[in-house]
Amino acid sequence: MKILLLGKNGQVGWELQRALAPLGEVVALDRRGHDVLCGDLAQLDGLAATVRAVRPDVIVNAAAHTAVDRAESEPALATLLNATAPGVLAREAAALGAWLVHYSTDYVFDGSGHQARQEDDPTAPLSVYGRSKLEGEQLIAQSGCRHLIFRTSWVYAARGGNFARTMLRLAGERDRLTVVNDQIGAPTGAELIADVTAQALRTAQARPELSGLYHLVAAGETSWFDYARHVIEWARAHGHAVRVAPQAIEPVPTTAFPTPARRPLNSRLDTTRLREAFGLCLPPWQHGVERMLSEILSRNI
Ligand SMILES: NC(=O)c1ccc[n+]([C@@H]2O[C@H](COP(=O)([O-])OP(=O)(O)OC[C@H]3O[C@@H](n4cnc5c(N)ncnc54)[C@H](OP(=O)(O)O)[C@@H]3O)[C@@H](O)[C@H]2O)c1
Repeated sequence: MKILLLGKNGQVGWELQRALAPLGEVVALDRRGHDVLCGDLAQLDGLAATVRAVRPDVIVNAAAHTAVDRAESEPALATLLNATAPGVLAREAAALGAWLVHYSTDYVFDGSGHQARQEDDPTAPLSVYGRSKLEGEQLIAQSGCRHLIFRTSWVYAARGGNFARTMLRLAGERDRLTVVNDQIGAPTGAELIADVTAQALRTAQARPELSGLYHLVAAGETSWFDYARHVIEWARAHGHAVRVAPQAIEPVPTTAFPTPARRPLNSRLDTTRLREAFGLCLPPWQHGVERMLSEILSRNI
């Protein structure tokens, strides 16, 4: 199997380089590309030329405009990267008979209510980012290419900055911490997303009827506040320096931290379709978070 991976250095892209390797030859690009191959989602002709030159069996697109707040002030760029470019990849995949794997987000929903959303539930994005990601999904579905679109949420990785790392830093510096308590979701590791992608892709190769949209998040749910407390108390229990006292971590509503983009309060995603279609188990969110913590704290990175 020949796989073209775009966005190889993002959180998910980095883990995909590892997880896809056993499936075959992986041509992995970042936005700078490689030799004559363009990997920049903003260069639509270059992107199409890359697909035609590589002639992959599978395109995996891990690149995106992921700066949710910045997207509010650059909607044209967000739409280009999150909708138009995936549409071009889908058109090229359809012409080649290749699969397209793509990632989307819980931000396609408005976050009302308390139920976990299913794939076919009505969408109503609250932000430019959410709208651009939804348009990307729609262009892929309309293209007729065989595809796997995974909607995920609250993605973290040991590499680079993340929420847990920020909380650990603040917990070491401050006497008091306030964390949002009214957004509910599931922190999901880039490792898990990459591993599930590889497993699903392998199954889907033999079963084209599995082409479609799936929710992919770790099991369970939490708020940012409980997530922060879990991270800080895990670090304290494992002997790492923590200044903030447990009772000095305080819950606040989302309105306490105004941001340019509105975020959904209910980010719960129902993963039944994915688990049943591919026969997979999704571990509780704490498993991946604790692995990531042992990695970053043992290496002090
Ligand atoms: N992060 C989350 O919490 C989250 C939640 C739900 C869904 N998702 C979705 O999951 C997927 C992977 O997200 P992630 O967390 O791995 O994101 P990420 O770490 O921000 O990685 C995105 C990658 O896209 C690249 N990129 C940006 N503009 C590009 C361009 N013009 N051409 C080529 N590459 C470009 C970035 O490269 P540079 O570093 O060079 O900018 C970066 O490597 C995305 O589709 C995202 O929408 C993420």
